Amino acid sequence: MSEKNNCAHLVQTQYAKQFGQHQLMVKSPGRINLIGEHTDYNLGFVLPAAIDKAIYIAIGKRADQTICLTAADLDQSIEASLESLKPSDMQWPNYLLGIADQLKKKGYSIGGFNAVVAGDVPLGAGLSSSAAVECATIFALNELFELGISKLDMVRLAQKAENEFVGLQCGIMDMFASMFGKKDSVIQLDCRSLEYHYMPFHQDGFQIVLLDTCVKHSLASTEYNTRRLECEAGVAAIAKLYPEVKSLRDASMDMVESILAGGDIKVYQRCKFIVAEIARLQAGCQDLVAGDIAAFGLKMFETHKGLSQEYEVSCSELDFLADYAKTQSAVIGARMMGGGFGGCTINLVRDAEVDNFIAGAAAAFKNRFQQDLKSYIVAIGDGTSLINN
Ligand code: GLA
Repeated sequence: MSEKNNCAHLVQTQYAKQFGQHQLMVKSPGRINLIGEHTDYNLGFVLPAAIDKAIYIAIGKRADQTICLTAADLDQSIEASLESLKPSDMQWPNYLLGIADQLKKKGYSIGGFNAVVAGDVPLGAGLSSSAAVECATIFALNELFELGISKLDMVRLAQKAENEFVGLQCGIMDMFASMFGKKDSVIQLDCRSLEYHYMPFHQDGFQIVLLDTCVKHSLASTEYNTRRLECEAGVAAIAKLYPEVKSLRDASMDMVESILAGGDIKVYQRCKFIVAEIARLQAGCQDLVAGDIAAFGLKMFETHKGLSQEYEVSCSELDFLADYAKTQSAVIGARMMGGGFGGCTINLVRDAEVDNFIAGAAAAFKNRFQQDLKSYIVAIGDGTSLINN
């Protein structure tokens, strides 16, 4: 049985053991992002895709107002009341309870429910397992209670749940990618208008390899929210002279240089990175359309440099892996991925050399950090969906 079926089987049998027959099951994937990091909450562009690793949820209605949740692979359960929802001390239930909380706040009529979750998205690896849980939960509740919410509104609600219940001021990318992912395509998403289009992503002769530092990033408790504030401070300063600038999406490099260069150095560096990254993504999309994957790969390395030196969301393990990748002829492009402070690098690696590359990186990493490196070769898959029983 494949890993995917294993997870589906696990949630199904655990549900049966605890609650009987589940009513429906939903699968929602993790995501990668090719380029365009920390640009989502600055209303720029991102280029994510859903992957072939997902969170599975089995769910069924209850007659009362109780919510019973089990994480089958963590062997943990929790009970909460729909009438008095508050964040749990454990992290994982908050991704489900936050969705119930949002639905209630928006006036949707839901009752108590039982749910069992499990998945094969590595946790804390920057692959958005949390967004996958949120999207799985909202999709499942939308079906179960026949709420009639559109996919885009589900994405918006899931982002709000993360902002308000979990406390991470994340952008919309992760939920959007999980919900709207499409096999063999990356999503070019404009985070201001939420217009998007699928770009066919042909992996001609290379694979997507993720190298996991296993440094667990806890974005909420790190600097993520601070980065957002630093960008807002930059926007406020620019807007004094250019009131039409509402986000860094509207700012030019000239504005950043002429207005921010002499001020707070952190604010200047953060804004410089974001304005460059928004432009880099647009140029990178042209590379992809032109089939110039080598030019695209070089931009990935540039993104890493900016994330590390200007945006300061990398760590020594990620820098080491990105630097290592740069020395390997097998690698077309590589960089840290996601919010940062740990998690994975994403590497585009030539087919024939994937095994050698992974072995070499693991040996170098062990030598430098005395830690084992995990690796995942991922394929681009479809977004959130119902699974037939
Ligand atoms: C995390 C957030 C996203 C995005 C990325 C960085 O994954 O949840 O909204 O900001 O970091 O690109």
